[in-house]
Amino acid sequence: MAAAPAVRIPVFGLVRLLGLAAAAGILFWAVHYRGGMALSTNEESKLSIFNVHPVLMLIGLVALNGEALLAYKTVPGTKKLKKLVHLALQFFAMFLCIIGLWAVWKFHDERKIDHLYTLHSWLGLTCIIFFSLQWATGFWTFWYPGGSRSGRASLLPWHVFFGIFIYVLAIATSVSGLLEKSIFMQSTKMIGRFSTEAMFMNSLGMLLVVLGALVILAIVSPGPGKIDTYRGSSE
Ligand code: HEM
Repeated sequence: MAAAPAVRIPVFGLVRLLGLAAAAGILFWAVHYRGGMALSTNEESKLSIFNVHPVLMLIGLVALNGEALLAYKTVPGTKKLKKLVHLALQFFAMFLCIIGLWAVWKFHDERKIDHLYTLHSWLGLTCIIFFSLQWATGFWTFWYPGGSRSGRASLLPWHVFFGIFIYVLAIATSVSGLLEKSIFMQSTKMIGRFSTEAMFMNSLGMLLVVLGALVILAIVSPGPGKIDTYRGSSE
């Protein structure tokens, strides 16, 4: 196999910066352009409950998930600590994603909109199911109760593969969600094609694509640490 690319940019710092920018960007969009977020559904907050969805999905499955994927290379200290940060960040991401999914589901129920009729919703559901299964099998095998040494060694390459795959799926889902929301709003004349909001949403989508590329680059490049390998049964 070809060697990993030699990275001469501070890729870990850039990932953090772009992850923070993406989280701030979606929050700014929800608050500044879309009137903020709410978890209850009284008359004036009916639209605000939808806004919880993109904010929590993007912060959870993209920003936190990206940091979690790199924890083995960015967190100083013992391997056990790195692993704990990895699984705790993913757990928090899963928690945010469940609330985000609940919010959009409730929004659809309240407005009598069908569920799961778009490609975005199919991609999203697939992403959430894979993410939850990946977390559960990872926890069971690598943390508690922990699999046998050979079981962990054979799961690890698949765990790494699915981790990257789910992350790419989360980027694709978020980009398709931004596109869909923007087109919905343009077709109902809520915003113009070249309005600052539409351009802002396009830019956020582009930012997510760049962030995705950098996270994958950081994963494949030899970093300060290295991706988990199995050397002993106590790990
Ligand atoms: C990885 C992140 C995301 C996941 C896993 C996800 C998942 C989902 C799912 C499963 C639904 C279907 C809900 C239903 O049928 O009741 C949905 C709906 C929706 N999402 Fe997302 N979403 C994500 C990010 C985003 C983002 C960033 C936006 C940007 C605004 C967005 C916009 C929408 C919209 C407009 C709907 C309603 C229309 C539809 O069902 O496609 N989503 N999402």
